[in-house]
Amino acid sequence: MIEVRGLSFSYGDFSVKDVHFKAKEGEVLTLLGPNGSGKTTILKNVYGLLKPEKKCVFIDGRNFHSMSLRERAMIAGYVPQSHHPPFPYTVLDVIVTGLASQLSVFESPRKEHYDKALEKLRLLGMEHLRDKPYTQLSGGQIQMVLIARALVQEPKVLLLDEPTAHLDFKNQVKILGVVKKLTREEGITAVLTLHDPNLASIYSDRIALVKEGRIRAIGKPSTILREDTLEEVYGIPVHILEFDGFRIILPRAEVI
Ligand SMILES: Nc1ncnc2c1ncn2[C@@H]1O[C@H](COP(=O)(O)OP(=O)(O)O)[C@@H](O)[C@H]1O
Ligand SMILES: [Mg+2]
Repeated sequence: MIEVRGLSFSYGDFSVKDVHFKAKEGEVLTLLGPNGSGKTTILKNVYGLLKPEKKCVFIDGRNFHSMSLRERAMIAGYVPQSHHPPFPYTVLDVIVTGLASQLSVFESPRKEHYDKALEKLRLLGMEHLRDKPYTQLSGGQIQMVLIARALVQEPKVLLLDEPTAHLDFKNQVKILGVVKKLTREEGITAVLTLHDPNLASIYSDRIALVKEGRIRAIGKPSTILREDTLEEVYGIPVHILEFDGFRIILPRAEVI
């Protein structure tokens, strides 16, 4: 269980103000909002890549930002929006870097570390990529490898920043399906960011709508994804259709 109690942060001309949310074990919580609304800033503050005004992130009741770096790395995994290593490391080598906090400066990864990396690749059905240079992967494969790298420490909480950005339809579905499976089968708590309300509608247990650095509403997709709230957050008129228990959001585009 992760709990954020009043997260505030400022870049100067942009601020995140008094963000509160909780996500339970096995839950997918999505921060949904337009470009520039502050989703990445919130996620980086939660993980500690940016420093919030006060230490306000609790995992299983413990203050996350008061823990050592090693302990933090074992409790939460972060999947960045993009990651470009400068050298053509193999996929397995990239995943092993997820264990860096468990190795001392002069220590090289050993067989047990590579075995763990392989286990996570297998879990994601990507074992065949183990020796491929990371620089030769497709966007969907890169995202899978970054998830495997975050999983290698067996974190309780996984933070994923726009895991579907730049992916085609099939890979969007595949990646979010994997995230859902990890929460259901491994009991991981996933907090992710998305800008597409339809993907959020399908894959989230709960959604937090983000606008101008604040959470405007939080709850189940069926209560959050309403025409008035979405119009307020995205600034365009929308229609919502119900189909098979899902909400489908359509822009009410003017035909010119
Ligand atoms: N390093 C930075 N320095 C100053 N402002 C930044 C920096 N990174 C992001 N911002 C600003 O913070 C706001 C929110 O950005 P971001 O959190 O990336 O939004 P989102 O992820 O929702 O698209 C934007 O106005 C952006 O320009
Ligand atoms: Mg972002």
